[in-house]
Amino acid sequence: MKLAGATALVTGANRGLGRHFAQQLLERGVTVYAGARNPDSVDLPGAIPIALDVTDPDSVAAAAKATSGVSLVINNAGSYTGASVTKGSMDDIRLEMETHYFGTLAVSRAFTPQLAEHDSSAILNVLSVLSWVTYPDYSAYSAAKSAAWSLTNALRTELAGQGTQVSALHVGFMDTDMISHVDAPKNDPATIAKLALDAVEDGEVEIVADEQSRKVQAGLAGGVAALYPA
Ligand SMILES: NC(=O)c1ccc[n+]([C@@H]2O[C@H](COP(=O)([O-])OP(=O)(O)OC[C@H]3O[C@@H](n4cnc5c(N)ncnc54)[C@H](OP(=O)(O)O)[C@@H]3O)[C@@H](O)[C@H]2O)c1
Repeated sequence: MKLAGATALVTGANRGLGRHFAQQLLERGVTVYAGARNPDSVDLPGAIPIALDVTDPDSVAAAAKATSGVSLVINNAGSYTGASVTKGSMDDIRLEMETHYFGTLAVSRAFTPQLAEHDSSAILNVLSVLSWVTYPDYSAYSAAKSAAWSLTNALRTELAGQGTQVSALHVGFMDTDMISHVDAPKNDPATIAKLALDAVEDGEVEIVADEQSRKVQAGLAGGVAALYPA
């Protein structure tokens, strides 16, 4: 879809990757609703702050009501608890699912009528290389991202009829608050935001943003034994 002149909603737009999305969309001539749990934390001139907690159905409904003309939804908001599915608390495990799966689902459903008003519209779901592979310190997060991947594919098939393109972004580590505790090479979130917006504009539905994600995606064909050799 053509971005210039469109209206977008970005969830979690107050910091991290979401802030880069919002900023770059503004630079591309897009009207931006910047969703944030605390709208006062949105510091981007030109963006329209919108109170939005993706895990709160009333907040999602109010955000949909307070906005109009949205033809691009970026489901970017994300939690990371570090919980393992065997040792983490059930509250943390549920939070990951509430944010990444139910939050993405709730926002997508709430904005589907606005998306349907346009001949061409799009949803971009920010997933992860961890939708495809898992590790102990990331397993609750990873399970939620896998669920969100399946959801993304379901939304794509179900919304194709109304002209809404649904894309997934898969990426490894990015240099944001979420993984400030990790000492490893990280992607620049500004670069990832640009790549993803270009890909949405080009009609790509599975955006594989870095070498790590490309390797794991290729490994899927080899089955579980290839992905988890140990
Ligand atoms: N960083 C990475 O290495 C990495 C890699 C792959 C994918 N991702 C994904 O990229 C996306 C952006 O993450 P990030 O790296 O930019 O992390 P971040 O800097 O920690 O930012 C997370 C954002 O999500 C918001 N958020 C969390 N829970 C929310 C909720 N219930 N409702 C609304 N907003 C909520 C936060 O808002 P508050 O300020 O209110 O907390 C914040 O704006 C996430 O989906 C994440 O899973 C990140």
